[in-house]
Amino acid sequence: MPNYNYTWQIIYLEIPMKTTIFISQPIPRAGIEMLEEAGLNVEINPEDRVLTKEELLDGCRGKDGLLCLLTDTIDREFIDQMSQLKGIAIMAVGYNNIDVVAAAEKGIPVTNTPGVLTNATADLAWALLMATARRLPEAERYLRSGEFKNWGPLLFLGGDLSGSTLGIIGAGRIGTAVGLRSTGFGMKIVYTDPAENPILDELGGRRIELNSLLQEADYITLHVPLTGDTKRLIGRRELKLMKDTAYLINTSRGPVVDEEALVEALQSGTIAGAGLDVFEKEPHIHPALLSLPNAVLLPHIGSATIETRTKMAVMAAENLVAMMRGEVPENQVN
Ligand code: DGY
Repeated sequence: MPNYNYTWQIIYLEIPMKTTIFISQPIPRAGIEMLEEAGLNVEINPEDRVLTKEELLDGCRGKDGLLCLLTDTIDREFIDQMSQLKGIAIMAVGYNNIDVVAAAEKGIPVTNTPGVLTNATADLAWALLMATARRLPEAERYLRSGEFKNWGPLLFLGGDLSGSTLGIIGAGRIGTAVGLRSTGFGMKIVYTDPAENPILDELGGRRIELNSLLQEADYITLHVPLTGDTKRLIGRRELKLMKDTAYLINTSRGPVVDEEALVEALQSGTIAGAGLDVFEKEPHIHPALLSLPNAVLLPHIGSATIETRTKMAVMAAENLVAMMRGEVPENQVN
């Protein structure tokens, strides 16, 4: 039987007594408990809303660590003012909201939470793909409004999955998990990625150029991180290359798609539909999208399952504890 008291004693010795961290919004309890059990003083913004820049600065003033979310802007200006921080842990896999170079320059390690949200996000990408192809929200609204009077041979016709081609842009962890799920639907896979993906290749997947993928695929799903290279990766030209029967699914980051161009493509029938979990200026939604029946819109819930969000909170907490102990955290990104 291990002696847990002894273990905790060691942890207290490793973390200076007054080490305090700030959490920018309430997160699953397990993450907070892990921080407290490690001997950290924890301060949390109690409100379930994104803090303003000033409020975030106030919260972090004098703190040793920050556990933040993808909605917090951690730019150079913020880092310059908070250079006392010994670590920043984001509870997300994407960290495009953090200037990791500025943090590195100040010697502040930044961590993310890769892996634990892969399956939940891939599942959501599929839910969105199917909801878009089979027009589920539109059909449900029709029924709820009392318009469903009869079964009809032309009622809510959508796109077939079986035998169609899935185009995966970005074949990392999530892109691969999305590809694995396509086998049950008898789909062909094409993908773009800087590297060959043996798992997708094993499924018969072909790595091809972006332009060819856009022309060939019936369902195109985006799984790239947001960087200078991927910003507006899908614009007017790319949308024009897509088939007019094809669908675009985005569960990565909004700015990967030029939203104005997407609205035009959906309005003009350049593509058949789009399923979006992320938006260019979140939480602002392009007003035209809201009235387009061929767009299915979700409030960035890719990883939103109880189990996944709990794992993300615990992983972010583990990273932060390691950084407060002066150790190299497992998921350092800078
Ligand atoms: C992430 O982790 O980057 C997702 O967008 C939110 O879970």
